[in-house]
Amino acid sequence: MLVSVFDTISFDIHGRVAVLAINRPAVLNALNHQTLVELLQAVRSIALDEKIGGAIITGGGQKAFAAGADIKELAAMTPLGAQALSHQGHALMDMIETLGKPVIAAVNGYALGGGCELAMACTVRIASETAKFGQPEVSLGLIPGYGGTQRLPRLIGKGRALQMILSGKSIDAHEALRIGLVNEVVPAAELLARSTAVLEAMMANAPVALRLAMEAVNRGEGAALAEACAVEADLFALSAATADRTEGTAAFLSKRKPVFQGA
Ligand code: CAA
Repeated sequence: MLVSVFDTISFDIHGRVAVLAINRPAVLNALNHQTLVELLQAVRSIALDEKIGGAIITGGGQKAFAAGADIKELAAMTPLGAQALSHQGHALMDMIETLGKPVIAAVNGYALGGGCELAMACTVRIASETAKFGQPEVSLGLIPGYGGTQRLPRLIGKGRALQMILSGKSIDAHEALRIGLVNEVVPAAELLARSTAVLEAMMANAPVALRLAMEAVNRGEGAALAEACAVEADLFALSAATADRTEGTAAFLSKRKPVFQGA
């Protein structure tokens, strides 16, 4: 079902799954201001819609997930404009990362600069064999501005991240898998089906527990171990207060499938 009309993205809902596709194939799905704003609106509506359990983000066309920020706009920006743009990009990436519902990046082609940053903000990355990843900003006299200097080292380690960021060179999907930048690589024809299957396997579990587990991982990431474990204990207690805990444990003990309410 098509739920909203945007100019630069498409936004469909299939059952409990929202599918967002960046739709500027003529410029390899470069993320201009309008695309950022439309993605922000779409992700906000996914956050607010309790019927949606998770999302897939992909690229329209065959060639690109997103080839980065729109270089035409980067060529014209002032330093203060660049700061505002970076904050806008961070707002989008943070909203995706803290959505409380799993988001799969189905990376169908180039994921460069802001495109790689968008994929990294997602919960899980599934790449087609044709995908390519990179942070080429230094070749434009810039640095990554939508979280790349922070999320890339957290995902693949500081040394590898610095090599990618300072060389500006792209890597293919198999190298991305080897270094932990993506979770899986699949043939292009299977990308959406596999991404949907991965998402639905997650969504079969208790929704509040999914939300709290992601919150524990995200909040613990930058904290010292003792502090992070204290956060985990509090969120574990919160999960124990849900009706889904009562249902999940009772279903296990009576050898039946649980029926979760998300409460
Ligand atoms: N912004 C604007 N236009 C872009 C674009 C981008 N990021 N990437 C590609 N395009 C446009 C090209 O200008 C070209 O337009 P025309 O047909 O009008 O000439 C069209 O898309 C097709 O691109 P190519 O002809 O270059 O396609 P290719 O197959 O030869 O090369 C590519 C593909 C290697 C991805 C190449 O397009 C490329 O290097 N793109 C730029 C990638 C990049 O540097 N991204 C980082 C942007 S900076 C950033 O993202 C900052 C940040 O962190 C927020």
